[in-house]
Parts: sequence; C-alpha cells; structure tokens
Amino acid sequence: MIILGIETSCDETAVSVLKVNRNRFKILSHVIASQIKTHHKYGGVVPEVAARQHVTNMIPVLNTAMTKAKVLPKQITAITVTKGPGLITSLRVGVQTAKTLGLLWNKKIVALNHMEGHIYANWSKNPNIKLPALCLTVSGGHTELVLINKYSEYKLIGRTRDDAAGEAFDKVAKLLGLGYPGGPKIQALAKKGNPYKFEFPRPMMAHNNFDFSFSGLKTSILYLVKKKFTNKKIPISDICASFQQAVVDVLTNKTLIAANKLNVKSVLLAGGVAANIMLREELGKKIKLELSGVKYYYPPLHLCTDNAAMIAMAGYFHIISQDFTDWKKLDADPNWELV
Ligand code: KG4
Ligand code: ZN
Repeated sequence: MIILGIETSCDETAVSVLKVNRNRFKILSHVIASQIKTHHKYGGVVPEVAARQHVTNMIPVLNTAMTKAKVLPKQITAITVTKGPGLITSLRVGVQTAKTLGLLWNKKIVALNHMEGHIYANWSKNPNIKLPALCLTVSGGHTELVLINKYSEYKLIGRTRDDAAGEAFDKVAKLLGLGYPGGPKIQALAKKGNPYKFEFPRPMMAHNNFDFSFSGLKTSILYLVKKKFTNKKIPISDICASFQQAVVDVLTNKTLIAANKLNVKSVLLAGGVAANIMLREELGKKIKLELSGVKYYYPPLHLCTDNAAMIAMAGYFHIISQDFTDWKKLDADPNWELV
C-alpha cells in the first residue's frame, strides 16, 4: 500500500510518500519546506505569513515528494492530511490540496489529528509496540500524557494548564534574545552550562495529579534576568541548562509515576520537544531503573518535529479500518483536540 501524507498545521509545508508492507513502514519521500528563517526575526510564527508561504510551497513540495518517491498517482491508495489542531489558514492549504488531489485522482481521504501523527512517528521503526502505552506528547502547542489502549483509542491522563513545554522553550529563548524556535537553541547553549546553577521551580511536580504548568518557570527566568543581571552579563548557558533541567525533571517524573500507576507495557515520547536529547536520555534512564519490563520508544530525530510521514503513518491505521473522511464535509479544524 502507498500513502500520500500532507501536513501544513503550522510553519512547515510537508509532503511524504509512505510504503507499507505487512505493517512495516518505508518512507519513500519526506519533503519539508521550512519557514524557520522567515519567522526567526519575529521570534515566533506569524500566521498570515505562514499561510502565504504554504500556498507558494505546496505544489513544488508535492512535486518533489512524488518525483523522489518515484510513484505515479495511480499507485497511491489514499491521501492523508492534517485537519487540526493548528493555524486555520495554514491548515486550509493542506486540506484543500488533499481535496483537490482526491477529486482529481479519485482517491479516498483520511483527515487526521496532528497529535495522532506525532504519536505514530514512534511506529516508523517499531511495528510491534505493545499496548497499552503511555505517550508523553510535547510540542509547541501541546504537553499531554495520553494513554493508548487500542489503535486510535486514546484517554487523556494529564495536560498542561498553561504553556506547552515547547512554548516555554520558545518564550525563554525569546526573552534571552536567542530567536525562534527556542528548543534547539537552548539545547545547544545548555551543553556549556551548569544545570544546577539556578534553582528554578519544578511546577506541579509534587502535585497529586498528572497536569503540568510551565508559565511560572518562564516568569521566574524573566525576573532573574531583569533583577539580577540588569547591568551584568547574563550567564545564558547556565540559565539554559538550569531551565532545561527543570523542564526535563517535571516531564520525566510525572511520566514515570503515571506509567507505573497505569501499568502500561510501553512508554512513548512524541512531538517537537521529543527531539531534546536530554529528555530522550533521562526518560530512558529512569524507565530502565524504575519500570522493569516496560519498553521505551522515541521517534528518530527527523520525525520528531512536524513532518508528513507521521501523518501518513497514523493514516495507515485508519485506512486498514476503512475509516475514511467524507471529503464534501472536510474542512480544517484549528481547535480539534485528540482527547
Ligand atoms: O511538533 P512541533 O514541530 O510543532 C508543533 O506541533 O508545535 O514542535 C515544535 C516545538 C517548538 O516549540 C520547538 O522549540 C520545540 O518543539 N523543539 C525543541 C527541540 N527541537 C524542537 N524543544 C526542546 N529541545 C529541542 N531539541
Ligand atoms: Zn507538531
């Protein structure tokens, strides 16, 4: 089976062609037109600018993905596309492209939740992940603990009450003048810093639930920079290292307690923040030490941040259940939550 994936929820125009053979995935093409350079100067994504660039990039990206994959439209089984959540005008470019191709090529469409795509990036090299699994989904817009009991059946265990983890990375980077996106920049500087130089709060870590909160952490960094370092050189690497340590401590501790309580067979990591090396490693170490028999998975780096292969992978599980979307009713849904 060959699946076309389309993703335009935020600032990446992405198209991928995926081949599936007996539940094993082979990515035939994985093309992304990134807008990072455009949005860098604003310190975040500007929706109108993002949508205009999706319109410009979509057809060339689609053309490159089909050419690289060496497939013809008649070989494609179905078209999968991100319907939400995300920026409405960005999402619409992908959705309208999927509808147009569906009509033109006479293909069925699967409209997908972006976060479901992030979760299924874990299946790229591991077709036999055992369920129930607990997934920590951490991106620019989401921070959630999701229990997967069956394919496409999810239960929300906890979520952020304010900023998402990726958003916290981006906001802290912005206030330190590091630009967008903040995650990779903070990670790089943190390598040179002392993670225990500043005792930043671990918000809600001791609370008896699985919710998160990151806005206070960002505020405490703002105060530190404004009060202590007004006329002094800001120790940016130490701040980055201490901030990253605080975020990783909260995320890994809560995930571990939830996985233990829910008695899951697997723990998964997903979303753009899953690209964070420290998070990937610390969670792995803690699972190995404290959760015997539980398997731990995280996606390869190129499938952590937004891409279309993950949409095609999630779409596969809908296709095999014949769970298609009526294209006449299909429109983008910017607020669509998975759970
Ligand atoms: O999943 P994603 O590409 O887009 C959304 O769905 O939001 O995630 C983007 C987020 C950004 O906030 C970015 O700063 C963060 O992922 N991110 C990272 C790293 N790479 C990307 N955060 C921490 N460490 C990283 N290495
Ligand atoms: Zn994403």
